[in-house]
Amino acid sequence: MKLAGKVVLITGASEGIGAACAEACRKRGARLALSARNETKLNQVAGVDGLAIPGDLTQPETRRLIVERTVAHYGTIDVLINNAGAGLYVAAHLAPMEQARQLFELNFFAMLEMSQLAAAVMRKQESGSIVNVSSIAGKLTLPWFTLYSASKHAVCALTDGLRMELKRDGIHAITVCPGYVDTGFQSHVIAGRPPLVMQRSRPLRITAERCAEAIVRGIERNARTVVTPVSGWLLMAAARMFPSLVDWQLERMYSKAR
Ligand SMILES: NC(=O)c1ccc[n+]([C@@H]2O[C@H](COP(=O)([O-])OP(=O)(O)OC[C@H]3O[C@@H](n4cnc5c(N)ncnc54)[C@H](OP(=O)(O)O)[C@@H]3O)[C@@H](O)[C@H]2O)c1
Repeated sequence: MKLAGKVVLITGASEGIGAACAEACRKRGARLALSARNETKLNQVAGVDGLAIPGDLTQPETRRLIVERTVAHYGTIDVLINNAGAGLYVAAHLAPMEQARQLFELNFFAMLEMSQLAAAVMRKQESGSIVNVSSIAGKLTLPWFTLYSASKHAVCALTDGLRMELKRDGIHAITVCPGYVDTGFQSHVIAGRPPLVMQRSRPLRITAERCAEAIVRGIERNARTVVTPVSGWLLMAAARMFPSLVDWQLERMYSKAR
């Protein structure tokens, strides 16, 4: 899908990957509707021409408001980039259920409901793209990030299913699997701290701008899955072909980091 003149709704757009996606879409002539909690940062990213809709996505009424206000302002939604998300660095066997639920409310249920609301609009025009930002952790489970990996695996499954469910309505769904993107993500966690091995991680590290370019190019070419950096495909292939070996290596890294 070419983005010039298209209405692009982006969640988690106040900073990081979402803000970089907004910039990349703006450069291509898209009309922007942006959401996140921090109104000041959101207004800065939206600028004079974009629509800023502040709110907490863990609240179902916020999800409805975002879609309603976007449609009221622009008349439609062509692309939804479901990007808002957060990490949780607490072992799954110890995590309080409240934290696990909070994680899934943002990383999975908000994406699901935003997809439902946007799909209802897109079905009327028989076109649209739903872009769900998962992670390489959505393709292989990282032991310092078990519950986050579980939420992102759920996002991958949801997106694959939506693609098949909505194909005949002219709606395309794209899964995005970034590696390590240099944003404030590691300090915005629900709880816990990333192990040192992750804080210093160099492989698979890219800027938010590079990640956003990969996402936008994925939308333009109707990609099925965007993996960025592309070397992430190697890791995912290794996890499929040699699961015990990859588990062994990840467990060693995890144990050393504790
Ligand atoms: N950074 C990485 O290494 C990496 C790797 C793979 C995947 N990802 C995924 O990429 C996405 C974006 O991450 P990022 O790196 O850009 O992180 P980030 O810099 O922490 O940005 C997260 C965005 O989500 C918004 N957000 C957080 N909680 C929210 C809530 N309850 N309601 C509404 N908005 C909320 C934040 O805005 P407010 O605080 O203003 O609400 C912010 O705009 C996430 O889904 C993440 O899981 C990141």
